[in-house]
Amino acid sequence: MTNDRQTSDPFVAWFRASSPYIHAHRGRTFVICLGGEAVEDAGFANLIHDLALLQGLGIRLVVVHGARPQIERRLKARGAGMQVIHGLRVTDQAALTCVKEAAGAVRVEIEALLSMGLANSPMAGTRIRAASGNFVTAKPIGVRQGIDYGHTGEVRRVDAQALQQRLDDGAIAIVPPLGYSPTGEVFNLSAAEVAAMVAIALGADKLIYLLESQGLTDSRKRLIAHAVPREVDAILARRKRLPEETRQYLKGAVTACRRGVKRIHLLSRRLDGALLKELFTRDDAGSLITAEAYEETRNARIDDLAGLLELIQPLEAQGILVRRSRERLETEIDHFTLMERDGMVIACAALYPYPQESMAELACVAVHPDYRDGGRGDRLLAHMEDLARVQGIDQLFLLTTQTAHWFMERGFVPGELKDLPMQRRGLYNYQRNAKVFSKALPPAPSTRPTGR
Ligand SMILES: CC(C)(COP(=O)(O)OP(=O)(O)OC[C@H]1O[C@@H](n2cnc3c(N)ncnc32)[C@H](O)[C@@H]1OP(=O)(O)O)[C@@H](O)C(=O)NCCC(=O)NCCS
Repeated sequence: MTNDRQTSDPFVAWFRASSPYIHAHRGRTFVICLGGEAVEDAGFANLIHDLALLQGLGIRLVVVHGARPQIERRLKARGAGMQVIHGLRVTDQAALTCVKEAAGAVRVEIEALLSMGLANSPMAGTRIRAASGNFVTAKPIGVRQGIDYGHTGEVRRVDAQALQQRLDDGAIAIVPPLGYSPTGEVFNLSAAEVAAMVAIALGADKLIYLLESQGLTDSRKRLIAHAVPREVDAILARRKRLPEETRQYLKGAVTACRRGVKRIHLLSRRLDGALLKELFTRDDAGSLITAEAYEETRNARIDDLAGLLELIQPLEAQGILVRRSRERLETEIDHFTLMERDGMVIACAALYPYPQESMAELACVAVHPDYRDGGRGDRLLAHMEDLARVQGIDQLFLLTTQTAHWFMERGFVPGELKDLPMQRRGLYNYQRNAKVFSKALPPAPSTRPTGR
């Protein structure tokens, strides 16, 4: 009998795999923030189609938009500019006129694309309502260090009830980077801040920032798949050259996270379909910020056996890892550490100490193929080294057939069989002919945080 969940058709496989996400997202509220740059891009219509698709799948959507390039163009046409002092823009009367014009123009553009229903376009047959309004009350940021910032403001209140009503009516709410004051004034706001405050006020399930850049990256420009607010604070403090826009998005993300928004995604808006990939597949198209560690590094337990086997058996079949029977894995389970994500084992490593020699063998290091090249191997190794150090181990060794260079790049040096503890030497498999590597560990255990 064939298993009807299996198919060789990638489309059918993809559609089935996305169904749990479709169910999970239905009825949820997402706040999506995009910059004015996105509106000018040739791919903007695709992004709007993706938003329409999300709405069609029953997601309650609020779109907060920026209008920076549109404002700047208008200012330039008038021979004016906007001063930026201490990272904040000064909005004088002339600039405010440009802000109002630009925000209006961007909103109209979004509404026009949402209204599109041409046959043979992805929007054929759709009828989407867009609703905008005076949802945000603002106050001036005022005079700081002697500088009058004019009509530059900050969010004072969000009318969540009015927004909810629009969403209940089935509309997509569109919120500009503007706020109104009870004195009848208009204030120029940061879209990132507006989006964060709207998400907080609505108790949104997700806040999604669509960035000009790739997402949150580490010092080697690798995407950071997940971070907690404390880690984002550290990045903000350390990286002085972060673009101002990114800085604002990151600040918005940590504020929202600390005030109860469960998931904040930072995605590149340049990557076609990033939103769909992030929401409907297991792949990371960008970075996720949550209050709690989302991926956890922890000791393996007996009920992890099935997940561990699923991870390592394909590598055993390729001869990359030594074969371990289920029974052996069961008896050795206490030696294993694993990384878990969404209930799935995505990486593992084992440590076999030889206390008399103050040595330990590092073995069975593996990261699930879908999750490689994201620095997990690095973090797992760091975790295993910490684990060894607290057990009084001075030296790690390992045997490898195909991964020598990965370990060498991380401080392991080639060794010889005779360097191994006597007991281990006796178990060496000459047929496998694995190479020996070792690494001396510094004595003090580091305080590097583990687990994500
Ligand atoms: C080796 C392994 C654990 C690395 O995990 P990872 O999460 O991808 O590791 P990182 O993201 O920290 O590092 C990725 C880097 O390692 C490199 N790399 C991966 N496998 C490598 C190998 N066999 N030899 C040399 N470099 C390798 C990648 O090209 C990448 O390099 P880059 O940063 O310059 O682009 C993973 O590839 C794996 O599970 N491999 C199969 C199992 C295995 O070989 N285990 C060792 C048994 S002794």
